[in-house]
Amino acid sequence: MVKVNSNYLKLKAGYLFPEIARRVKVFTDKNPAAELIRLGIGDVTEPLPKACRDAMKLAIDEMGTPDGFHGYGPEQGYLWLRQAIAKNDFQLRGCDIKAEEIFVSDGSKCDSSNILDILGEDNRIAVTDPVYPVYVDSNVMVGRTGKSYENGRYSGLEYLPITADNSFEPEIPGNPLDVIYLCSPNNPTGAVCSRLNLKAWVDYALKNDALILFDAAYESFIRDPQLPHSIYEIEGAKECAIEFRSFSKKAGFTGTRCAFTVVPRELKGHASNGQKIDLWDLWNRRQSTKFNGVSYIVQRGAEAVYSDAGKDQVNSLVSFYMENADLIRKELAEAGFQVYGGQHAPYVWINVPESMNSWDFFDYLLDKAHVVGTPGSGFGSSGEGYFRLSAFNSRNNVKNAMQRIAQL
Ligand code: MLT
Repeated sequence: MVKVNSNYLKLKAGYLFPEIARRVKVFTDKNPAAELIRLGIGDVTEPLPKACRDAMKLAIDEMGTPDGFHGYGPEQGYLWLRQAIAKNDFQLRGCDIKAEEIFVSDGSKCDSSNILDILGEDNRIAVTDPVYPVYVDSNVMVGRTGKSYENGRYSGLEYLPITADNSFEPEIPGNPLDVIYLCSPNNPTGAVCSRLNLKAWVDYALKNDALILFDAAYESFIRDPQLPHSIYEIEGAKECAIEFRSFSKKAGFTGTRCAFTVVPRELKGHASNGQKIDLWDLWNRRQSTKFNGVSYIVQRGAEAVYSDAGKDQVNSLVSFYMENADLIRKELAEAGFQVYGGQHAPYVWINVPESMNSWDFFDYLLDKAHVVGTPGSGFGSSGEGYFRLSAFNSRNNVKNAMQRIAQL
């Protein structure tokens, strides 16, 4: 008799985005002529930068020659890409991150779940609320939580509310925790951790021998030069943090797949006998066993992000989406919504009208404006009463969506 992983049975419902897709399908089946504008899932819409496409085409041609053919690459990623990342994303910002500490992968979503493979089962784990649902669901799937409560939370996880009351900055807990997920710029709220807040978290982690899992997938959308892009801009972070980064949103790689995770050499965990263990060794072991690397062609495309042309094109792409975010912020504020985020992140977070909850507003917007967003409560119980709009779409679609909402 085949036994299933019963942890999956604890999962509350479908993953948020498939659930949205399901509701949208019900609507479009009934209203086939409706022209939907999708500002729900944060999937990019604009073409891949030319520099990346050119590099990938060259790589394809290379693969067609006996000398340029590449089979399995290094599981950690090709050294030339790791070096380009270490230099451009970290060393030029004053962070002492070396190429060997970069692990190239096919996505931050996978890495932020897979990281649980190398962490013990009895860690006290904290997530913010609202939160990118992958952090919670992946903990449920591997059995690190107990049952779920009515409000969607799980026993065994500590929740750190981020709401307008604390300016969407997670507060430092009074009790010791072992693993803390932080996401900045934040998905879903669009808020960014200040240097002060991040320093407080690093100090807390160092004091409590804790590990911060820092998701910086949206760092390139930060426009204020004072705000930190990497946790390694904070002194001591190399002893207490793993950072996840992605080419998905900044360079249009959501369908192409390339990301990376930084595991500093200094990072230690503890075995059950108290012995200190290098997390780098464990992650390297995990990746070498379970992962065969990202394709040579895609890594060449990612490397081109750091060429002069690539940097210009990525900047234009990011600016394009941030102009969309500006437009969403402005139009929704004028329409009377309380508007957050969207200044250093491609997500705008708004309060829904008082008479509705987040899913009511989702249905209302879908039904009346044919606009798809993401209900805040889908990200956690503290997201109830909020709604997320993504800036990833064409200018025309964003303008039309805002016009439709304004006319409601
Ligand atoms: C989102 O809409 O939150 C994103 O698509 C998440 C992701 O990148 O997986």
